[in-house]
Amino acid sequence: MDNTLLEVKNLKTYFFLDEGTARAVDGVDFEIKRGQTLGIVGESGCGKSVTARSVLRIVPKPGRIVEGEITLHRLVAKQDGSKMTDLIRLTEVDPMGSLMRGLRGSEMALVPQEPMASLSPVHTIGDQIGEAIRLHQKVSKAEARAKTIQMLELVGFPRPKQRVDAYPYQLSGGLRQRAVIAMALSCHPSLLIADEPTTALDVTTEAQILKLMRSLQQELGMAIMYITHNLGVVAQMTERVIVMYMGKVVEEANVDTIFHNPLHPYTSALLRSIPRLGMKARERQRLASIRGTVPDPYAIPKGCSFHPRCDKKIRGVCDQQEPTYIEVEPGHKARCVLYKQ
Ligand SMILES: Nc1ncnc2c1ncn2[C@@H]1O[C@H](COP(=O)(O)OP(=O)(O)O)[C@@H](O)[C@H]1O
Ligand SMILES: [Mg+2]
Repeated sequence: MDNTLLEVKNLKTYFFLDEGTARAVDGVDFEIKRGQTLGIVGESGCGKSVTARSVLRIVPKPGRIVEGEITLHRLVAKQDGSKMTDLIRLTEVDPMGSLMRGLRGSEMALVPQEPMASLSPVHTIGDQIGEAIRLHQKVSKAEARAKTIQMLELVGFPRPKQRVDAYPYQLSGGLRQRAVIAMALSCHPSLLIADEPTTALDVTTEAQILKLMRSLQQELGMAIMYITHNLGVVAQMTERVIVMYMGKVVEEANVDTIFHNPLHPYTSALLRSIPRLGMKARERQRLASIRGTVPDPYAIPKGCSFHPRCDKKIRGVCDQQEPTYIEVEPGHKARCVLYKQ
């Protein structure tokens, strides 16, 4: 049985601007298994959202996918009831065509950072979730409404029968995000793409939403691509992790390995920037953001793009040659000249 759900190979998505070409995603490779949670972590601007948008084929202009392959392994039921996988090369389909529009929502759904980005302010949440259901499933209005209430219940909405007729502005940020999650899950996608879904929330609400997503994942068996700049969230939510820096994957491993045996100096620097319980106030102050800033995407440094900020750089090597992405130990890859196959 093929348990691969999504394969991304050498994905490059560039923005063509007057200032120059921003290589937002510059040769990204990863794979997601059915039911697995993959974390994508990295500082702001490293290409996480553009990667997600490339998979969904909703890259805004003047951006476009210039190279690479994205393949969805869709499970389809045969007439005798057994299942087969159908390979869909997402990079080759019309982003606005009916196939892609059908896949968005039914196979892959997005939960963005800001819930208002996917909710209309002038319709009730019930109408919006109901509409999403009717777009992908042949059900009557009444059935869609009943299913909407069920979904709101599933995501822990208090009094869903009454709240179904609320407008987004009448809800708290946490409830709005629950409504967006209910909408995303309403057609049982095999892949949920969560792009910093809790960044706009306070910590208590964040903890509730994370718990909710974990339990829903177990219950529904879907895969999650979980994007965050927060390694603490990665530890709670994911099984496998890819670390991105300036449009490239610099490390990939299981979550425990990332925390206990990070290979790339960038991953180590990110780990040093997580506050830990019991840290003294002074330590916390020193808890550094990584030295230097992310360079301009129009002017990616020569050699390893992290070298200007790296405390392990080797002069004459790291500023000259771009490291290749290698499997250092089984299941653990890194892009750094310090490591050999
Ligand atoms: N709409 C856009 N127009 C121009 N450039 C963009 C746009 N969206 C993203 N980019 C470029 O792509 C880079 C990566 O963006 P993004 O994927 O949103 O980062 P993040 O990792 O914070 O999600 C940005 O630094 C920017 O240079
Ligand atoms: Mg982003």
